[in-house]
Amino acid sequence: MSATPRKKAVVLISGGGTNLQAFIDASQRRELDFELAMVVSNRSQAGGLTRAEDAGIDTRCLPSKGISDRAAYDRSLATELDRLAPDLIILAGFMRILSAPFVSRYAGRILNIHPSLLPLYPGLHTHARALAAGDREHGCTVHFVTEELDGGPPILQGRVAIEPGDDPETLAARVLQVEHQIYPRAANLFASGRIVYRDGQCLLDNKVLSKPLRYPDSL
Ligand code: GRF
Repeated sequence: MSATPRKKAVVLISGGGTNLQAFIDASQRRELDFELAMVVSNRSQAGGLTRAEDAGIDTRCLPSKGISDRAAYDRSLATELDRLAPDLIILAGFMRILSAPFVSRYAGRILNIHPSLLPLYPGLHTHARALAAGDREHGCTVHFVTEELDGGPPILQGRVAIEPGDDPETLAARVLQVEHQIYPRAANLFASGRIVYRDGQCLLDNKVLSKPLRYPDSL
């Protein structure tokens, strides 16, 4: 009798890779229900590449600088990914908008983490925007990626209180800590088959998730 093969994930990064590190740490603690098969960066200087190499994970760099043809870049990216046939694509600070053909090729298999309580503040400068709005809480969301920027169905959110005296940097640092907690957990829900993307919605245990799970209460 053969064991079911472990699911394979590819992590896409552009920068320092602290979320990638959270996955690496969870993997080393044997807490991930899938294998980190490869890390791909669109920037050669991304610190996350070193983190992956140090952990013995296969890496690729596909520089995007100066490439204006988004569809062509995404086709090269897909060629790299298809060699591995990943079950899951984890965007971890990948600072590129993916083209519609790329998203539809991997529909329901791409996750992203966004530093806000979506649907609040899609796009950039989320911490400054939450502060400017006078919000009392802020946080982060793991969601499925669709063609709409930061608009795919949310899976899991983590919240932080906004404290008097917070600035975008202090708030970002606290949110990042929570990102590291929720992202591997959300990816595990996907890898175990409990969370599924279907027809623009997120299903948990075959039921439509009408609002995102909350960490730590819902898990
Ligand atoms: C995080 O803030 C994440 O929410 C956003 O990009 C940043 C990546 O940080 N998508 P890191 O490279 O994982 O440290």
